[in-house]
Amino acid sequence: MVSTITVIGTGYLGATHAACMAELGFEVLGLDIVPEKVAALSAGRVPMYEPGLDELLAKHVAGLEGSTGRLRFTTSWEEAAAFGDVHFVCVNTPQQRDGTAADMSHVDAAVDALAPHLTRPTLVVGKSTVPVGSADRLAERLAALAPAGDQAELAWNPEFLREGFAVGDTLHPDRLVVGVRSERAESMLREVYATPIGQGVPLVVTDFPTAELVKTAANSFLATKISFINAMAEICESAGADVVQLSKALSHDERIGGKFLNSGLGFGGGCLPKDIRAFMARADELGTGRTLSFLREVDSINMRRRSRTVELAREQCGGSFLGRRVAVFGAAFKPNSDDIRDSPALNVAAQILLQGAQVTVYDPKAMDNARKAFPGLSYASSALEAAQGAHVILHLTEWQEFREIDPEVLGSMVDEKCVIDGRNTLDRARWEAADWSYRALGRPSAA
Ligand code: UGA
Repeated sequence: MVSTITVIGTGYLGATHAACMAELGFEVLGLDIVPEKVAALSAGRVPMYEPGLDELLAKHVAGLEGSTGRLRFTTSWEEAAAFGDVHFVCVNTPQQRDGTAADMSHVDAAVDALAPHLTRPTLVVGKSTVPVGSADRLAERLAALAPAGDQAELAWNPEFLREGFAVGDTLHPDRLVVGVRSERAESMLREVYATPIGQGVPLVVTDFPTAELVKTAANSFLATKISFINAMAEICESAGADVVQLSKALSHDERIGGKFLNSGLGFGGGCLPKDIRAFMARADELGTGRTLSFLREVDSINMRRRSRTVELAREQCGGSFLGRRVAVFGAAFKPNSDDIRDSPALNVAAQILLQGAQVTVYDPKAMDNARKAFPGLSYASSALEAAQGAHVILHLTEWQEFREIDPEVLGSMVDEKCVIDGRNTLDRARWEAADWSYRALGRPSAA
């Protein structure tokens, strides 16, 4: 019977997974090699902005008043190995610095550190996004290093949660995918996920490579869908058509659907960009590189949206940024997150700064992260403050807060009433009624 769960790595994925496993009723021990993270989480503090996660920590972290005490954190591999009936590996697989392939060093290091302490039958479950073929390799490594031998078994269980919705996505996923090599592994995972399975969440039981591929294929599909509509935006720009109406019309076709069909500045974050690049690199290794060559185009369409936004802003500034003040609304790679990894908004802000403008950024949650990573940009404590004396406003991350701004009020702060809606989510009619020049990607400017 599964009653204890270890979660290795307490980043976006691991911290959420650990808290949600405690919520499902398990005794959970989260492990991280960074003592500060362990200290913060043990005190109930979430090291990033993730709605709902602080409530779950408050409810379950041992030692907090009124908590169930089901959730603890440690830096000790020995303690973690002895604790868990099931160990989830949730460490990240970033893009390698010198290339496009995924950096597997954290996953490998986790297995290497855990395995020598595994003395009883256990299940090690990989959740990280990895190149197809990794699980086969890690299974061998685990069996060779663990004193329990092949009783320390591997399974693969990709994660599909989105930042900003991580808690809801973990407790109520669209589907569960498990790659297993034995009935024992399958039945242990069925126990872990008994609650969502009981609520009707579909479970796909498959082999290792298929489980690994479901994740990379899903992210590639989502990236392709976004770049498809952004390619249409490029066409709309040349043909004088409106991509927002085009997208809306397409979305009524149920086979296409409206999700991930929002045109604009394109995708960023710690997953989609690096996952498509790592997938291409893996396909090259497998000798099937040509099959995924379309993903190169998906990537370049995505990057072109950033340059197009800079170009539009420069046009609005009269052809040069020198001496111009630009206000940037948004720094996070998407709303409801403080994550700035590969943020399209900050990438655009940095390009404009390099071209000589004074750039002031405001974001509801990502200011600390942005300041650390881009100290050359200026920062304001509100959208209105960022807009003071601006020649152009760039709306680059679609926070609800920005949709609620009154363009009449904002109009009195700026030097020129010019807004570029990089996410196609502002109420165009309202801004134009307040006498703003409204420009957007893939949409004609006002007649
Ligand atoms: C993505 C996937 O959606 C998750 O299913 C997956 O588990 C996760 O990666 C991961 O691999 O860990 P996430 O990176 O949190 O999740 O963000 P998304 O909500 O997918 O958004 C990605 C980017 O696409 C954002 O920059 C967003 O602004 C952009 N986007 C999204 C668009 O430009 N248009 C859209 O229509 C939708």
